[in-house]
Order: sequence, then structure tokens, then C-alpha cells
Amino acid sequence: MPKLKHLLIAVLFACLTFSNPVSAQRDATGADPIFEYLGLERPANWETLSRDQRFQLLEDLGIYPENGSKYQGQIPSDLSLYFEKQGLTEPENWADMTFAEKQNYLNQAITKKDNISPQEVIQENPLSKLIGLDIFNLNELSWKDLFLFFGYWAERLVIIIMFVKPAVVIFKTNWLKKIFSWRQTMGWLSTLLYFIHALGFIILYDLFGLAAWNKAYLIWGGLAGMLMLILGITSNKYSMKLLKANWKKIQRLAYPAFFFILAHTSLSKHGDLRKFLGLGGFYLIAKIVEIIWQKRKTNV
Ligand code: HEM
Repeated sequence: MPKLKHLLIAVLFACLTFSNPVSAQRDATGADPIFEYLGLERPANWETLSRDQRFQLLEDLGIYPENGSKYQGQIPSDLSLYFEKQGLTEPENWADMTFAEKQNYLNQAITKKDNISPQEVIQENPLSKLIGLDIFNLNELSWKDLFLFFGYWAERLVIIIMFVKPAVVIFKTNWLKKIFSWRQTMGWLSTLLYFIHALGFIILYDLFGLAAWNKAYLIWGGLAGMLMLILGITSNKYSMKLLKANWKKIQRLAYPAFFFILAHTSLSKHGDLRKFLGLGGFYLIAKIVEIIWQKRKTNV
């Protein structure tokens, strides 16, 4: 018989799957007015690019939508990074210039770019990807890159914490047991990293008013953050003594927190629940195998 907690996880999983208003209405169109405003021709391979590649291309140009939203055809209001990347000063009358005038102006940058060293051309390499930071271009590090870096590691630690329990039960290796014994420390560290990440983005994207929290990925992030704070604060011997039997119940908040984090990062990166369903589904399978394994052990 499945226990109540397992049913709850399954219900939560189903709710998240079908309650994604933002991704349903999002798409990566709206590029034409953006490119026109930037004074650029739309790239010839635009139609063949995936949604993520399109966002990446726009970000590489140095333009970001406001408040951390994704592009839906809105004209970027802040072009400072765009011009900075081109090595040009932003003309005051940019908005009034014709497309041809803008192209003429940008041609100066193209001539300058011919002198760029190969180092500057490196956008991404496997090591940077692994670390979550473009370590070969630290001089171009933006606040966004930095706060994302903290978020990546907060999420990675949570993933390790969640998967290590089924892994230890199934594989029983010593190195997994060692990682298992570090769970509390990893929990504290991930709370600290998430806190810097969240605070950073709250300031960077001006998320102080409730109205700014109108994106599904932010709401899931906020909920996950609240649960992580509760978990981080109560993960110590003093709280254990104080809360007695309730302590274990509070620690179970790690499960919804994990799924909320996956929903947050999945929607933020892809605008859909692909990652949430993939990793979340894999975790559910691992958990079911763990329970079966444990039952078999007690029956022997
Ligand atoms: C109040 C809580 C939170 C806020 C305000 C917040 C804010 C944000 C924002 C604005 C982004 C998108 C940045 C962009 O692409 O422009 C983001 C992405 C991200 N967040 Fe959070 N976040 C919160 C909680 C969390 C938590 C709890 C974690 C993990 C433990 C987390 C991990 C991440 C990661 C890994 C990404 C990058 C996703 C990707 O593009 O691959 N965040 N967050």
C-alpha cells in the first residue's frame, strides 16, 4: 500500500505539471522588432535555432528582458550592455534613428571586432560549464552571471542531498556513505548559496513589489526559498531537541522544496517543465526503488 506521503508527492508532481500558465503562453517570437530596434539583421539561421539558443543569442548580444522575464517581443529598455559589448557609446537619439543609420553606426564596431583576440571569442567551454561560470572571461562577468553561479551550486547541492539517500540504500558503497554523512553541511551551504542568489536577483531585477512576482518560475523559486530557509534554520541539534517528534516532519519539507526548485530552474531555463519532469521523474523512480530495496532487506 502506498503511504500518504508518497501519494502527496505524486499529487504535487501532477499539479506542477498541469499548472504552468506562463510556459503555455510563452514563445520565443517577437524577435523582429527587437532586431530592428538593435539595428541588426535577423540571423539567417534564426528559424533553425532552438528556443534556448535564441535566448542565448540575444543574451550574448548583451540584452536582457526586464525583471528576469523572457522575450515576447518587448523592446529592451536598457541597451547599455549591448553597446558596451560593441565597444561603442550609446547615441542619445538611438530610438529615433532609422534602421540604415543604426547599421552605419554599428559598422564601426564590426571593424573594431576584427582585432579581438581568440581568448575573447571563447564563449563557453566544458570547464566553465562544469563550474557554472565563464572562468576564461571573468573580466566580462556580469552580476547576473554571478548570481546564477550561486543558484547553480545551491541547486546542485540539493540534487546531491536528495539523490544520495536512495543511492546509498541501493549501492551501499563507502564513498556514498561518506557523502551521505555530509548532508547537513551541504544543506547549510545550499541555503547560504540560494540566499545570495535570491537576494542578488531581488535587487538586480527589482523584485521588491508583489506585482513583479508575476512569473511562474519566480513563484516556485520563492516557495522553494521559504522552505529552504525553514530547513536551513532547523537543521541543528538545538532545533532537534526543541521540536522533538515534529523535527522529522519539518525535515520532510525537503521533498516539496526539491520539486519547487526543479520547477523554478526548469521554467527559468527552458520556459517549460522538461527538466522538472526528467529529473523529478528520475528521483521518484529512485525513491520507489529505495523503498522496495529497504522492504526486501527487512523481509530477509
Ligand atoms: C526567492 C527565491 C528565488 C529568487 C528570487 C530567484 C531568482 C531567480 C531568477 C530571477 C532567475 C533567472 C535569471 C535569468 O535567467 O535571468 C533564477 C534562475 C535560477 N535559480 Fe533562482 N531564485 C530563487 C530561488 C532559487 C532556489 C531556491 C534555487 C536552488 C536551490 C535557485 C536556483 C536557480 C538556478 C539554478 C537558476 C538558473 C536556471 C537556468 O537557467 O539553468 N533559485 N532564479
